[in-house]
Amino acid sequence: MDFITLVRNQFLKEPRAYHPQHLTTPEKMIDIVSAWKGLELIIDDLIKRFGLSQDRCIEFGVEFGFSSVAFSNYFKQVTGIDTFEGDEHTDNKEAHYEKTKKSLLAYPNIELVKSDYKDWIIKDTSRYDLAHVDIVHNYKETFECGLWAARHSDCTIFHDTESFPEVKRAVIDIAKRTGQKAYNYPHHFGLGILVDRHSLRKKRRNQ
Ligand SMILES: C[S@@+](CC[C@H](N)C(=O)[O-])C[C@H]1O[C@@H](n2cnc3c(N)ncnc32)[C@H](O)[C@@H]1O
Repeated sequence: MDFITLVRNQFLKEPRAYHPQHLTTPEKMIDIVSAWKGLELIIDDLIKRFGLSQDRCIEFGVEFGFSSVAFSNYFKQVTGIDTFEGDEHTDNKEAHYEKTKKSLLAYPNIELVKSDYKDWIIKDTSRYDLAHVDIVHNYKETFECGLWAARHSDCTIFHDTESFPEVKRAVIDIAKRTGQKAYNYPHHFGLGILVDRHSLRKKRRNQ
C-alpha cells in the first residue's frame, strides 16, 4: 500500500459515491424475490470501469440465487457459498439448499457449496476477479469474510451498506486495513465496492 493511500484511508469516513455510466440488463435473469434486484444493472459497468477480468467470481450469501444468476451472465465460473439455512436478518430461516440447487440447474456455470464462510476461507487460497459478500449483516462476520474476499479478489462488493450501517462500517475498516479504494452505490439498499488497484495494475502490466 502506498503512503498517500495509507494516510488518506485512515481518515476515511464515507466511501466515495459510485456513479455508473451505463445500466445494462443481463440477458438471463431469474424471476424470484430478492432485495438485490436493481443491482444486476451495474455489474457490466463495474467490470468496464475497473477493467475486471471475467473468469472467476465468488459469492458469500446466495439464498435463492438472484445475485448468483446475475453474475453468471458475466463470469465464466461463479462459486456460491451459503449455509442455506438463513440467518437472523433473513425472512427465510428454512433449509433451502435443495430448492436453490433445483432452480439454478439452468445456469451450469454456477457451482453451489453448502458451507459456512468460516470453513471456506481457511482452505481457499485462490484468487477471484470479483467477490460478493451478502451474508448475515453483522460487523464481525462482514469484516472477517470481507477482509478475506478483499485479499483474494480484484474487486469486492458488499450488499446492504445503507440498510445495515454495520456493513458500511466493515467496508470502511477493510479499506483502511487493505489500502483499497472504497465506493458506495446508495441504491437498492446500498452496495459497498472495494477495488484492489495494485493487483489490477500488476495484472495489466503482465498482459
Ligand atoms: C441476504 S441473503 C443473500 C441474498 C442473495 N445474495 C440474493 O441475491 O438474494 C443472506 C444469505 O447468507 C447466508 N449466510 C448467513 N450467514 C452465513 C455464513 N456464516 N456463512 C455462509 N452463508 C451465510 C444465509 O443462509 C442467507 O441465505
